[in-house]
Amino acid sequence: MLVSADLVFGLQWGDEGKGKAVDYISPNYDVIARFNGGDNAGHTVVHQGQTYKFHQIPSGVLHGCLGIIGSGVVLNPESLEQELTQLNGTPKLIISKRAHLILPSYKLLDQHLESLKNGKVGTTGRGIGPAYGFKALRFGIRVGDLFEEDLLTKLNDAKKLVENLGVEWQEPDIEHWRSILEPFVGDDYRTLHECLLEGKHILFEAAQGVLLDLDFGTYPFVTSSPTFTDGIHVGSGFNGKDLDDIIGVTKAYTTRVGNGAFPSELDGEMADFIRKQGAEFGTTTGRPRRVGWLDLVALKYACKISGCNKIFLTKVDVLSGLSDVGLVTAYESNGKRYDEWFDFDETALKQVRPVVEWVSGWDSPTHDGSPDKNLISFMDKIENTVGAKIQWISFGPGDEETMRMI
Ligand code: IMP
Ligand code: MG
Repeated sequence: MLVSADLVFGLQWGDEGKGKAVDYISPNYDVIARFNGGDNAGHTVVHQGQTYKFHQIPSGVLHGCLGIIGSGVVLNPESLEQELTQLNGTPKLIISKRAHLILPSYKLLDQHLESLKNGKVGTTGRGIGPAYGFKALRFGIRVGDLFEEDLLTKLNDAKKLVENLGVEWQEPDIEHWRSILEPFVGDDYRTLHECLLEGKHILFEAAQGVLLDLDFGTYPFVTSSPTFTDGIHVGSGFNGKDLDDIIGVTKAYTTRVGNGAFPSELDGEMADFIRKQGAEFGTTTGRPRRVGWLDLVALKYACKISGCNKIFLTKVDVLSGLSDVGLVTAYESNGKRYDEWFDFDETALKQVRPVVEWVSGWDSPTHDGSPDKNLISFMDKIENTVGAKIQWISFGPGDEETMRMI
């Protein structure tokens, strides 16, 4: 039987336009599965003229796909409830009984941990780090626990730890949480394997991006979960060997929210221009995003480590109108030149000098034309550097503002 399971993930520091990419390709799939992160993620999707903001529900449910929230996700039932109200009717959705819950006190804990830190991470404040922390410490509460007899004992243990960490305990509204989650609780592993046997097409949708990965990102300025191919198995029980296309999403430039090194960062007028043209303000927190040129050193690393074979290039329209567009092709540090990422720690990375190459600016593509030759040179430069093919380019939020390259 033909196996088909693909992955869409971010090649940068999140916000690459994964929501748009998934929405565009999801009509080809029967099942869309999330395997990491929680409501720190924000996917904005414009579907049939209407704007949706998803934090936890896989956006493919808009096309009638089966959505799966895998074991590796940390779930906030109340924000799930809000997302559900955007949809007409109840979506086809399965939430893993192994997914951990974000308890109300975890948000306070997020703030508390930031206040202890010299060099704040700049988290989204959603309690994500504490949820993964409690999970690893074996004090976590899982979705399935809501329906078990020993729930109160487990909650009491969590309460003791929260209070020991110096934070106020806030009681979760268990009855309400049960009523939100009950229709959806299931087993991600079993469902995915059954779907595979039935020949269904599965798409995994990652949250955040390679450079925010807990292990392979710019630690400690990262999120608390695995954010690319590395997370699928632990986050859903699906075997990575059954994966087909590994589709990385990158903007034609770079953005970052939160703190940490950012070698290609811009400031001044150019940064303001890109931020304004690209509406670069966080979906989850509304914070202005830091912006910079596309960093090919970082992109090459992200492609290599993830096994990316296809690229979905987004927001090429944002740079149209510029006479020249920069691309960071190497870093210089202590008189040496590096075009491979990042055997640097955070401190060293903050000190590198980016080497910028320039390509001539382009006119934004239209859906019935072919890309301008300057945009083609920009894309050639990317493909030749990172060794993956740009399969789609996106030049606006709508489905029709997307071009598939042959
Ligand atoms: P946390 O995931 O809320 O703990 O935040 C850790 C870091 O990841 C911070 O720099 C956040 O700004 C960043 N982050 C988390 N989720 C996203 C996202 O969906 N897009 C972009 N950055 C994110
Ligand atoms: Mg986002």
